[in-house]
Amino acid sequence: MRISVIGTGYVGLVTGACLASVGRDVLCCDIDEEKIKKLRQCISPIYEDGLEHLMWPSIEEGLLQFNTSIKEAVTFSDIIFVCVGTPSREDGSVNLDYVKSVCDSINEHANTKKIVVMKSTVPVGTHKVLAEWLPGHAIVSNPEFLREGVAVNDFLKPDRIVIGLKRNIEVETIMQSVYEGIKGAIYFTDNASAEMTKYASNAMLAMRIAFINEIAQLCDETGANVLHVKEMVGADTRIGPKFLEPGPGYGGSCFPKDTRGLLQTFRDYRPEGRLVAATITANEYHKEYIVNKLQGKGVDFNMKKVAVLGLAFKPETDDTRDSPTHTIVPLLEKAGAVVAVHDPIAKPANENLGDVLFNADVVIVVTEWDCYKGLDAFTLRKLTGKNSVIGDARNIWNPEEMKEAGFTYYGMGR
Ligand SMILES: NC(=O)c1ccc[n+]([C@@H]2O[C@H](COP(=O)([O-])OP(=O)(O)OC[C@H]3O[C@@H](n4cnc5c(N)ncnc54)[C@H](O)[C@@H]3O)[C@@H](O)[C@H]2O)c1
Repeated sequence: MRISVIGTGYVGLVTGACLASVGRDVLCCDIDEEKIKKLRQCISPIYEDGLEHLMWPSIEEGLLQFNTSIKEAVTFSDIIFVCVGTPSREDGSVNLDYVKSVCDSINEHANTKKIVVMKSTVPVGTHKVLAEWLPGHAIVSNPEFLREGVAVNDFLKPDRIVIGLKRNIEVETIMQSVYEGIKGAIYFTDNASAEMTKYASNAMLAMRIAFINEIAQLCDETGANVLHVKEMVGADTRIGPKFLEPGPGYGGSCFPKDTRGLLQTFRDYRPEGRLVAATITANEYHKEYIVNKLQGKGVDFNMKKVAVLGLAFKPETDDTRDSPTHTIVPLLEKAGAVVAVHDPIAKPANENLGDVLFNADVVIVVTEWDCYKGLDAFTLRKLTGKNSVIGDARNIWNPEEMKEAGFTYYGMGR
């Protein structure tokens, strides 16, 4: 079975590589020539554990090919996965320009009736627009739920595969065969429900994070320890322990964009999206919280060196889109600080941890990379060379050990 994948970013590349690994014959297409050049040499343009390892045998077997020609991608297969970006516009609405441009190319080059599988995250109702843009072709809404950092595993063993389509046994059977070998239950539904499921899932997760972060702020004021609280709250089987980790605020390429997109859909259709709106506001405020908290404790950033640890929005990825670091650094600079940012993978951060930490008056932890977690208090003290103030927005270090080593330590909600 042949499959074309258009857009070879985090989602498209993982989709293409995983489908090829279970025996599909895949052609991945991207307009970015540099990306395709690298991919042809089995070099992944993104940092994603296990991806190159997975790609290699399929490339050798000829089951995974890369191309910049959209015409070839459109004529290669009757099943076309669309995996291009759907970024936010200024007003929070979703920009479908990349999707539209792919649809135009499909119309221009299609020689047969296609099954166009929309993997990009698109607002509920988009399938109707797609039906107008792609007359005569079948539209399948198949949102992706993978997490960067564990994307290969998430794709090969997903919690669920959501496939929205107009009832059509032939297309349904083809989609079933596309996913043969992927170990996840398939949920067939209508297009609108599939589109909605993606936004509802991301908004729910974002809401949990925003909620526990507000609880962490209240713990700071009341003397409760959020790490105990979240464990005991999460022990309730109705609630569960996941996505209750306090931190510097959610970021990345999905939660901020998708909550804004969902709010815009609420506005388009009238009912107020009060919870989603509150989640967005709470998170925006919370991204500033670690800096505000330190200032509230009397830390003056003026002319001080601040080491910010982490630029990626979470560990095990090089994705920095909407990372809390992008909020924290300008705040620190506005307060007069001289900021140095370290990240082991994400660019353009400094690669030398020792340089970044040396002589730092303040150290702020934004991303819980293992290389920071593994630092013991005395090594850290040697690296900074002074009794710095620590703002540990991820609670990765032990407060007692930090104090013993001479630091002034502030965590998040404890
Ligand atoms: N990144 C994630 O974790 C994730 C998870 C689930 C869903 N999604 C959704 O998947 C979609 C893609 O996200 P991403 O993170 O992979 O984006 P990305 O920016 O990493 O990749 C998009 C790719 O599409 C390419 N592209 C743009 N226009 C093109 C065209 N006309 N023809 C060929 N290629 C084109 C770009 O060059 C780029 O390589 C978005 O809608 C996103 O919301 C992302």
